[in-house]
Amino acid sequence: MAFVVRRLTEDDAEALRTLRLEALQTVPEAFLSSYEEEAAKPFAWFRTVARGPDRNAIFGAFEDGVLAGMAGFVAGERVKERHKGTLVGVYVRPSLQRQGAGRALVEAVIAHAATRVTVLEATVSASNHPAVALYRSLGFIRFGTEPKAVQIGGRFLDNDLLQIDFSGRPS
Ligand SMILES: CC(C)(COP(=O)(O)OP(=O)(O)OC[C@H]1O[C@@H](n2cnc3c(N)ncnc32)[C@H](O)[C@@H]1OP(=O)(O)O)[C@@H](O)C(=O)NCCC(=O)NCCS
Repeated sequence: MAFVVRRLTEDDAEALRTLRLEALQTVPEAFLSSYEEEAAKPFAWFRTVARGPDRNAIFGAFEDGVLAGMAGFVAGERVKERHKGTLVGVYVRPSLQRQGAGRALVEAVIAHAATRVTVLEATVSASNHPAVALYRSLGFIRFGTEPKAVQIGGRFLDNDLLQIDFSGRPS
C-alpha cells in the first residue's frame, strides 16, 4: 500500500484546502459545492472542517506525506436527524486512483459512522460509475434517485440516493 489513511486535524487545514479546491476545479460534477464558493471561504473555515467538530470527521490518504485523497462524515444536527450522517467530499487525486485509497477512505468513514449514527447516507451522480461501484461494494443500498438534483453548466444531473442502515449490525 503506497499510502497511509488517518483522520485529519487542524494542522492539515492548508493541505485540505489545496486538495479540496483541486477536486472542485477538476471534477465539479462530483460535488455540490462550487470552486468559487469554497475558494472564497476564510482559512478558519478549513481549520474547523479539518478538525471535525461534534461527531464530524475527515479522513485523508497521504502519499509520501502529502494529502492526496479524502472522505468526510457530517452528522445530522437537528434532534430528529441526529441518527443520520452523510458521507461527503470523497476525492482521490488521479495519481493515486485505482490503488485502493478510495476504498480505504470510505471504509474509514463507515467505521467512524457505525459507532455514531444509525444510518449513513451518500449522494452520488447516477452517471459516476466508479463512485457508485465503490459505494455499493461497501454495502450502500440505493433507495432512490433524485431527478435533476444538480445543475452544472446548463446541464442537469440525476443523483442516486444511497444508505447503509447499521441497525442489527454487531457494534
Ligand atoms: C471514486 C474515487 C474516489 C475512487 O477512488 P480510487 O482510489 O480510485 O478507488 P479504489 O482504487 O479504492 O477502487 C475501489 C473501487 O472503486 C471502483 N472504481 C474505482 N475506479 C473505477 C473506475 N475507473 N471504473 C470503475 N470502477 C472504479 C471499483 O469498484 C473499485 O473496486 P475494484 O478495484 O475492486 O474494482 C475516485 O475515482 C475519484 O476521486 N473520483 C473523482 C471524485 C468523485 O467522483 N468522488 C465521488 C463523489 S460522490
